[in-house]
Amino acid sequence: MLKIKVPATSANLGPGYDSFGLALNLFNEYQFKIDKDIEKLSIDIINNNEVEVNLKKEDNLILNTIKYLDESLPHKINTRGLQIKAKLNYPLNRGLGSSANAIIATIFGLNELFNLNLAKKDILSYALELEGHPDNIVPTLVGGFTISKVEDNEPIYEKFEIAEEMQILLFIPELSIKTKEARRVITNTIKINHATQNIANASLLTAGLIKNDIELMKKGSKDYIHQSKRIALNPKLEKIFIELKEKLETPLFLSGSGSTLIFFSKKDFKNEKEIIKNTADKYGIVNYLIETDVNNQGIIINKDGD
Ligand code: HSE
Repeated sequence: MLKIKVPATSANLGPGYDSFGLALNLFNEYQFKIDKDIEKLSIDIINNNEVEVNLKKEDNLILNTIKYLDESLPHKINTRGLQIKAKLNYPLNRGLGSSANAIIATIFGLNELFNLNLAKKDILSYALELEGHPDNIVPTLVGGFTISKVEDNEPIYEKFEIAEEMQILLFIPELSIKTKEARRVITNTIKINHATQNIANASLLTAGLIKNDIELMKKGSKDYIHQSKRIALNPKLEKIFIELKEKLETPLFLSGSGSTLIFFSKKDFKNEKEIIKNTADKYGIVNYLIETDVNNQGIIINKDGD
């Protein structure tokens, strides 16, 4: 049996819309095996409470990725007896890269199981076709903090390892946001001074992350392309975001297209957690917190998993 653990990711990080991504030490787990005694392909998905997750066919990205690969590769994939189990350790549609996670897991898993000989760049290209933007798929596969873009339909990226002492807190509201819908609120044009600010901020933020410098990250945390428009979609989330930005010293971003908020610190989050909890209670946002850090390794594979 093939077992793989695939990291959650936080994309954008404010000014890095569609290009910045960070892999986290928070994993969805997948098992792949062929059972010759069974005819049908089976895909079982459970959450971290071991409760079955029922997805509509069109939302099942494991299934869609298998179909896509089957149509795209020169030879067919024989799914007879293919058994896939997925355990989701964080919720879907919260801006933690769950689609990229399922897509990369499936391509990577099938590549190993059927010896498809896909190189890392092929895996990324196929995943890009399905996901549409590279910022979650790249760190999901390779780990670390990544800057990526697409040129001539190919993902191009650079990966940076992040210091272990960089701590991360995720505020995950009981609020599901579909990326497709959250992309609709972004305008096609931006003012030149906003573009200039975003270039400077993205550069400062990159320097801050690489130099392990929280103050520098804070200086580069403002975004003019997507973040405020998306947060405004939910008035409660907007209030909590604005209030926490004023109250806390830590850099804070909308993770991916939301609804998760991501905080960075080099100390533990004891004080911050109290403030976040009180602010969330004030606005009545049901949520839970996860403390984690950066995963510099990317996908973890266990070929002889029993
Ligand atoms: N860059 C993407 C977005 C990430 O913000 O729409 C979410 O998948």
